[in-house]
Amino acid sequence: MLRDYLVGDQRVLEIGSGTGQHAVHFAAALPRLIWQTSDREENLPGIRAWLDEAALPNTPTPWELDVAGTWPEATFDAVFSANTLHIMAWSEVQRLFAQLPGITRAGATLIIYGPFNYHGHYSSDSNAAFDQWLQARGAHMAIRDAEAVDALAASAGFALVEDIAMPANNRCRVWRRIHT
Ligand SMILES: C[S@@+](CC[C@H](N)C(=O)[O-])C[C@H]1O[C@@H](n2cnc3c(N)ncnc32)[C@H](O)[C@@H]1O
Repeated sequence: MLRDYLVGDQRVLEIGSGTGQHAVHFAAALPRLIWQTSDREENLPGIRAWLDEAALPNTPTPWELDVAGTWPEATFDAVFSANTLHIMAWSEVQRLFAQLPGITRAGATLIIYGPFNYHGHYSSDSNAAFDQWLQARGAHMAIRDAEAVDALAASAGFALVEDIAMPANNRCRVWRRIHT
């Protein structure tokens, strides 16, 4: 799926890279990309360990990036994030989208993977159970409404171009930056 939507030589910012395991997989499979990992400070040693072991030429050292904090001064062709919007507080999700115009070029691609609700409804029983589990762990966490996320994307100048069903009731949602 990333092969289809990250076309050409692209600089990709991954937000909330977690362990860095996804970064190593994607960067190895798509060597024409520069895959810039990032996460909160506490996750950087783990990401570094994955990147060091893989020793790929296209995974620069991870950046400390808490979406609620200071953002880098850089321009990316694409932004990717997996399994993060339901972990971040809604105010952090809002901040993430508000910062996108500052770090992307016109025509940039935004890809977000994870569970989504549609029109206020869970898309599966397993997502309903997952949402209850999330909220028991922290009231700030919740599966987000696709329409609310699309509204944030639109405010940042990004239009939805694809919403692809993925295994285990997840989605891969793709937007393009249409405003300069
Ligand atoms: C469930 S993990 C997903 C990790 C990885 N992307 C994956 O799919 O396996 C959620 C990630 O979001 C990150 N995260 C949570 N709040 C964040 C914030 N405010 N800014 C940046 N990353 C954040 C966490 O540190 C964690 O790495």
